[in-house]
Amino acid sequence: MNVMEHAVFRRFWYPVMPMSELKQGPRRFELLGQALALFLDDDGVPAALEDRCCHRTARLSLGEVCDNAIACPYHGWRYNREGQCVLVPQMPDRDPGPKRRVKAFSCREKYGYAWVALEQPLFDIPDFPEAVDDSFVLIHEFYEEWRVSGLRVIENELDMAHPSYVHLGTFGSPEHLVAEDAKIEEFPGGFHYTGRLGVKQAHHAQDRNNERFLDCSWYAPFICRLRINYADGPAHVIINCQVPLAHNRSQVVQFCFQEDDGTGIDEAAILAFDRKVTLEDKHVLESTDADVPLDPRDERHMVSDKPGLVMRRMIQALIDDHETRAVTFQ
Ligand code: FES
Ligand code: FE
Repeated sequence: MNVMEHAVFRRFWYPVMPMSELKQGPRRFELLGQALALFLDDDGVPAALEDRCCHRTARLSLGEVCDNAIACPYHGWRYNREGQCVLVPQMPDRDPGPKRRVKAFSCREKYGYAWVALEQPLFDIPDFPEAVDDSFVLIHEFYEEWRVSGLRVIENELDMAHPSYVHLGTFGSPEHLVAEDAKIEEFPGGFHYTGRLGVKQAHHAQDRNNERFLDCSWYAPFICRLRINYADGPAHVIINCQVPLAHNRSQVVQFCFQEDDGTGIDEAAILAFDRKVTLEDKHVLESTDADVPLDPRDERHMVSDKPGLVMRRMIQALIDDHETRAVTFQ
């Protein structure tokens, strides 16, 4: 059984769609094999319904929003954000009744995305301290599909031994093979991870330093906050979220908080640098196996793999604590 077939993955919030997209009209998204019709209600709050009309199964996401409801493109039945059909245009005087309804999912907006949980979420959407700090600016970076398991990408974010091989074209230093002073502190549903990593070249927007002070947090199962500080210069905080489409496909959702230290923010330079780094990761990650064994005996390891191993252990514990069944999807 592939790790992503565990039903517990339905119990987390995922940033499935940029709000800027939803402002253009309803959109379809397949989360863990569940087709969703996403739309904005009259208050601008995102809603998520099963993308299948209960009349003749047409995709609601092809419809449009009318009077605080999504109207099916086929015969115009309208559904509110709870999934209840509120109007059958061909029988306007009749109450559509409780049987005319589709499944609705928890949906809310945060950080400029519509977040969805397919079942009662185990943890809230993380609060990132930089989001309420006026010296930081939020920049949306990437929203794209990769052919990889999201767990491999998140583990990569926590792996400080790969830059000196994968990122030689950007910041990786062949002389600094592992992070120094690496520490992990667990909390319910995640952990903090700190350390220092020598780099060949400092981050964009500065060129005076060659050591990163890393302050990372992992939030189960698919969110990583990677705060990169240097001895001088502004902090760069990457939020990498992997939204599982299927066991071997992941929607990469990355945004960042960039500190403005008074010298201004060159958004284009930040995006260009992070794009290069991201493509270096993608090249290798898409070559990895889709399944990620949680049992440490099923792959070989080294000392610097500890954050990934703690991540795998904590996911296994969540499965053991909360799961009663598995699901299968394409
Ligand atoms: Fe949706 Fe007929 S299929 S209204
Ligand atoms: Fe990387």
